Amino acid sequence: MRPNARVLSLVLLFGLSAVSVPPAAAQVAAPPQALRQPDVIYVPTRQSVVDAMLKVANVKAGDVVYDLGCGDGRIVVTAAKLGARGIGIDIDPQRIKEANENVTKSGVGDRVRILNQDLFTTDISEANVVALYLLPSLNLKLRPTLWKTLKPGTRIVSHDFDMGDWKPEQTLSVDGATIYYWTITPDLAKRAASEK
Ligand SMILES: C[S@@+](CC[C@H](N)C(=O)[O-])C[C@H]1O[C@@H](n2cnc3c(N)ncnc32)[C@H](O)[C@@H]1O
Repeated sequence: MRPNARVLSLVLLFGLSAVSVPPAAAQVAAPPQALRQPDVIYVPTRQSVVDAMLKVANVKAGDVVYDLGCGDGRIVVTAAKLGARGIGIDIDPQRIKEANENVTKSGVGDRVRILNQDLFTTDISEANVVALYLLPSLNLKLRPTLWKTLKPGTRIVSHDFDMGDWKPEQTLSVDGATIYYWTITPDLAKRAASEK
């Protein structure tokens, strides 16, 4: 091989191998990235309040419980211990890590999924129970989606914050917190359409 051709083949060989075999660091799975800033900071619901939320919503085996903004996953983990399936959604990767650890530690991995997503763009139509601990403004922003997307009979339970002029069927005081409870009725999808 002529010297120039030898140099060219070495360049190609090392160049190609650099492309096809990434350095070890590049092969390590990237940590989950934040989607965007959370709409509300993380404040966990006390376990006594979690228990009361799931009790008023009558959570039992066969239910599918969504917690929109699930934090460390305590609501869906507790729901799973009652035999339900739980889906926890959170936008913050740190909360996703904690929730997954909680799921593993609690041995409910077969019934709980934790998703790093924006609650405002997640498909929640499968839920028949939805848990919330957000803010009054976020509840109002979410309200049309709840009305349009959820099946009649789906139960909604919210820690501390109501839904404006959608009056709750029950309001409870538990351990310093207020719990609001609603069920989706067939007229609400029409109301959502008329309020657009
Ligand atoms: C007040 S904490 C409630 C945590 C949990 N549900 C509980 O009751 O213990 C609100 C959670 O919502 C999450 N969050 C805020 N904005 C969000 C969004 N757009 N999509 C998904 N999660 C969000 C925050 O990261 C935080 O973990």
